[in-house]
Amino acid sequence: MTKILTIVGARPQFIKAAPVSRAIRNLGMQEYLVHTGQHYDENMSQIFFTEMGIPEPDVNLEIGSGTHGEQTGNMLIAIEQCMLNEKPDCVLVYGDTNSTLAGALAAAKLHIPIAHVEAGLRSFNRSMPEEHNRVLTDHSADLLFCPTDTAVNHLKTENIIEGVHQVGDTMFDAVLQFRSIAEEKSTILETLGLEPNSYHLATIHRPYNTDIPENLTQLLNTFEMLEHPVIFPIHPRTRQKIDNLADAPTLKNIRLVEPVGYLDMLMLEANARFILTDSGGIQKEAYFLETPCLTLRPETEWVETLTDGWNVLVGRDYQKTLDTIQQKRKLPAPRPVFGDGHAAEKIAKILQEYLN
Ligand code: UD1
Ligand code: UDP
Repeated sequence: MTKILTIVGARPQFIKAAPVSRAIRNLGMQEYLVHTGQHYDENMSQIFFTEMGIPEPDVNLEIGSGTHGEQTGNMLIAIEQCMLNEKPDCVLVYGDTNSTLAGALAAAKLHIPIAHVEAGLRSFNRSMPEEHNRVLTDHSADLLFCPTDTAVNHLKTENIIEGVHQVGDTMFDAVLQFRSIAEEKSTILETLGLEPNSYHLATIHRPYNTDIPENLTQLLNTFEMLEHPVIFPIHPRTRQKIDNLADAPTLKNIRLVEPVGYLDMLMLEANARFILTDSGGIQKEAYFLETPCLTLRPETEWVETLTDGWNVLVGRDYQKTLDTIQQKRKLPAPRPVFGDGHAAEKIAKILQEYLN
């Protein structure tokens, strides 16, 4: 039986992997699921397995947090041992985290074919750890599953043509699969006492926004100035940074809440006036769910979402943030550029053909 060793470890990877994991198993292939333990809090990890019906990992390497070198290095050692034990036919990695790179590197050294989901994304900003992780993973991959034409073109520019497949975006698959379940099951709007369209939703976790205290303070001050309340499910690294701020504002308009599960997040996203974020996945989900988005970064990998003004890059221009939110406009329907909702099945089928 064909055996695929899948590596996940950080929150967005559980969401990307959920539809693919199901599709792989539906085709009768064996999946050995490795959780690196990069994310480990209940609401950063287990909740997604439970809500999305992802099979429990076959192993959790419990690597946890650390500096980039330490974390990636510890993963490399543990993942290599896992691959030596399991002897998979192929290794499947997702996105651009340290778990992605460690998985790809371990497989490359052992000459195991590598499949990369979300290949070809580029920010062209080498100060982001994710940019190194993506480039290095793409250049060691045998199968490159691109979510968009833009991603295919980036790979072409880097002379990567063989093994490239434009399949669509598995996060779009996930939204289509879970939106109605979220509507049925989530009670987050009632729990937080929120009416649709009466609040903004914010998430922040990039060093660009969190690591310079003056910038983080100014970002919080900006959120405090908005007309509608800001619901802010707070990533643990951002929580630590806010707790350490010397001059944090008193939060009146911002409502900090613990990170929420996927179903609650879909409801919060779908019903927000605006989403303010530096997350990659949330920019896309805003587009899928037709909620206008402000991206608190100078650039985006997801350039398609900028079309027609659905997503606006505001970087650290806090006045632009305030101005953009003032101009709520009627926007044309988002374009179908992230596939047909069946990226996962396409990935599973291509993997099966490749490995036979
Ligand atoms: C990581 C990814 C980033 C991705 C993000 C998704 C890398 C280099 N970064 O960033 O690409 O967008 O995940 O959320 O791989 N922590 C906890 N509990 C947890 C997890 C983390 O308290 O369950 C805290 C720890 O103090 C840790 C810090 O958050 O040091 C950062 O975690 P880490 O996984 O290293 O990076 P992220 O910022 O989460
Ligand atoms: N997400 C979630 N709960 C939260 C914040 C995010 O379920 O409190 C989901 C979100 O819907 C998206 C994914 O996590 O599917 C994005 O992950 P994150 O922002 O951590 O990482 P990025 O996409 O920037 O790599």
